[in-house]
Amino acid sequence: MKVVITILVENTTPSPALIGEYGFSALIEVDDYRILFDTGSAQALYYNATQLGIDLTRVDALVISHGHFDHTGGLLSYLKQYGPRPIYAHSGMFASRPLPLGGNNYKDIGCGFSQDELLKAGAELHLRDEFSSIIPGVYISGTVPRNNNFEDTGGKFKEVVNGKMQDDPLADDSALIIEHPEGLIIVSGCAHAGIINIIEHACHQTGKSKVLAFIGGTHLISASPQRIEQTISALDSFSISKIIVSHCTGFYAAARLYNALGECVIKGETGMRFEF
Ligand SMILES: [Fe+2]
Ligand SMILES: [Fe+2]
Repeated sequence: MKVVITILVENTTPSPALIGEYGFSALIEVDDYRILFDTGSAQALYYNATQLGIDLTRVDALVISHGHFDHTGGLLSYLKQYGPRPIYAHSGMFASRPLPLGGNNYKDIGCGFSQDELLKAGAELHLRDEFSSIIPGVYISGTVPRNNNFEDTGGKFKEVVNGKMQDDPLADDSALIIEHPEGLIIVSGCAHAGIINIIEHACHQTGKSKVLAFIGGTHLISASPQRIEQTISALDSFSISKIIVSHCTGFYAAARLYNALGECVIKGETGMRFEF
């Protein structure tokens, strides 16, 4: 099995030919099967794909990590431009998600469209709330159990349910898991479920204990020093070859991980390409 992951959208880029955009998107090639994982928040996906010579017509399926705008922002426009595609996601992705900004001000950070709108745009929707296979050896995590006592969603997120605002557990937060012969490759959007919860879930569901790579957002940007130290100690126990942190990791958490774990920690930015 050959796996190639290209980051198409991330907050930053080291390349003058590309643009950074708040959010995440990656093209994941598993042999000849091509998955577009998340879609960033607006237009960077299209600009960067063109600049990188990536043909977005050649995408077999899309996987959406969760219903935040910075992962779903290019989804409707993708379907309108490129036509119907299978989409794998959690049924919770359509939640209404006002982020309190202070006073009576809120920003809607949900996906901003309904299931009906997505279907009308050409989605062949596969809603998967439990761990399940996309193609042999490639899985979507479904809801990730929150088993440890040090990880949380990473923010004061809210959702509206039956007209009432309540804390948002981000139950839809899902990861993509690839069973590579050398170990699991785990791709995350924001890791609101917690990076360690996600890795443990992936190992438990696949029955594998070796993790080759983790790539994506970690939402450690607002983590306490204690959480970061507990995360480092848990990551260390997995002996992961590449921990590619992006998006909502934040400079200080990335720096702390790099200092503690060394060169296996890479700051993943727009345009980077990883082969396994
Ligand atoms: Fe995000
Ligand atoms: Fe998020």
